[in-house]
Amino acid sequence: MTRKVLITGAAGFIGSKLAEHLSELGYEVVACDIFNFRNQFFDVGDLHHLALQRLRSDRIAHFLKRNDIEYQSIDISDHASVSKLFQKIEPDVVVHLAAQAGVRHSVKSPMDFVKSNLNGFANVLDACNTHGIKQFLYASSSSVYGARTEAPFKETDRCDTPESFYAATKIANEQMAKAYFAQYQTPSLGLRFFTVYGPWGRLDMAPFIFAQKMRKQQAIQLFGSGLLQRDFTFVGDTVFAIGRLIERGINQTYADVVNVGHSNPVQVTEFVQTLAKVLKLEPVIELLPMQVSDVPLTCASEEKLRQLIGDWPHTSLEDGLLEMVEWLGKWNPV
Ligand SMILES: NC(=O)c1ccc[n+]([C@@H]2O[C@H](COP(=O)([O-])OP(=O)(O)OC[C@H]3O[C@@H](n4cnc5c(N)ncnc54)[C@H](O)[C@@H]3O)[C@@H](O)[C@H]2O)c1
Repeated sequence: MTRKVLITGAAGFIGSKLAEHLSELGYEVVACDIFNFRNQFFDVGDLHHLALQRLRSDRIAHFLKRNDIEYQSIDISDHASVSKLFQKIEPDVVVHLAAQAGVRHSVKSPMDFVKSNLNGFANVLDACNTHGIKQFLYASSSSVYGARTEAPFKETDRCDTPESFYAATKIANEQMAKAYFAQYQTPSLGLRFFTVYGPWGRLDMAPFIFAQKMRKQQAIQLFGSGLLQRDFTFVGDTVFAIGRLIERGINQTYADVVNVGHSNPVQVTEFVQTLAKVLKLEPVIELLPMQVSDVPLTCASEEKLRQLIGDWPHTSLEDGLLEMVEWLGKWNPV
């Protein structure tokens, strides 16, 4: 029997790719996002805002329309709208990705994160409980691990020292999910993503910013003197893992969490060198001190994920960046 999956945040980077992937696997996908982009926050100037609007519309056209996926425009921070959507759709599986993303943006404007990440999350969680959803997967983040340096990060590690308000909202989501399990036995699985990159990526993330700066022969600012390390994960690998987790079914006796990362951190300077090689350009680098909210390292233990889904793809940084750069050339010529 075809199973119906509701994806929130489906006009986003991971959500749009996931919608395509699940549709290809034979699921009936209902994609939801706010779609009214004027409601989106991002205090980064009109040009950026317009580019973001275009990117989201293009993702919808590329991933959703092409795959004939039904989509619904709703604001998840509105409880009544979320309830109505669940009543109408009656999903078997919910993958909740909608959120205000961006660690650095949360330093500038923490209040932008309350609506989607706290109210929105609570609304979706509550609807999952009311509608007896047995498969509720939601986006958490590697940022819940804070500034620790002992690698790899394990799901059993303590996560109570957020370095940003964004991280605090993700920790709060995990705690809310645990409380719903304790009160109502609503099962859930939090997906701790680790710096996802690839084609159709986010405009506020380093891979896109670095590539654009290099293409325009502008200097790239590397905070933490370029020594920060990130466990970059290709978007295709990420959605593969989510698809497998859905296929296997989540643990019904727990509000669980799992890392979705490769245990292969790369120094940001090395990342820039690989990107430069792929772009066949020479980077101009400006080394700067660490910023508030930055963490020195992210490194997933992938032991638990492997126990749950077995082998999963490990796209090399060079191959992943090649795909990203190819897309960028088509989508946004300099
Ligand atoms: N990309 C990463 O590296 C990464 C890392 C860790 C965690 N995450 C988390 O994964 C999820 C997806 O991230 P992404 O990179 O695809 O981000 P994204 O910004 O591309 O996608 C998020 C989507 O959520 C939608 N959204 C926000 N508020 C909404 C609301 N109130 N109602 C309806 N839709 C709303 C946005 O319009 C956007 O399309 C987010 O929860 C993010 O915090 C991402």
